[in-house]
Amino acid sequence: MVQATPFLLVLFLALGAHGVSVKKCNLTGRWVNDLGSNMTITTVNANGVFAGSYHTAVTATSNEIKVSPLQGAQQRGPNQKGQPTFGFTVHWTFSDSITVFTGQCFVDDDGKEILKTMWLLRSRVENIKSDWKATRVGINVFTRLQSQE
Ligand code: BTN
Repeated sequence: MVQATPFLLVLFLALGAHGVSVKKCNLTGRWVNDLGSNMTITTVNANGVFAGSYHTAVTATSNEIKVSPLQGAQQRGPNQKGQPTFGFTVHWTFSDSITVFTGQCFVDDDGKEILKTMWLLRSRVENIKSDWKATRVGINVFTRLQSQE
């Protein structure tokens, strides 16, 4: 019994640590996606509402790219278990388009946060006959940009 005590203690600590150390995914901060676009989410309020800015690396237009504002919300419900779903809209300041993103914030096996998203990019077309070609769809994966302190 005396010899078993340290073993049980280590086992208890290992299991306990595993149970309590589940890292949560936090949307606040700077992110880069697979296209090289940069996104900054400044604050997420108590209701899950957030704002930030988006610097796209690519455009469907011939316009000069400008940093554009984004607004969104994440789920705060009890079922999120630290990996919340979210959605946000980017209102492009250099084109007539709007993009909506929806996704989930995951923590991978290495403890790294990753945002898996899908998006719809709505471009303005001249008339209703062209509506069929106005919406693009795609996926983007974002990882956190490490701060350069
Ligand atoms: C436009 O071209 O009218 C605005 C820029 C659109 C950029 C798109 S949004 C979806 C995809 N993901 C990015 O990071 N950039 C492109």
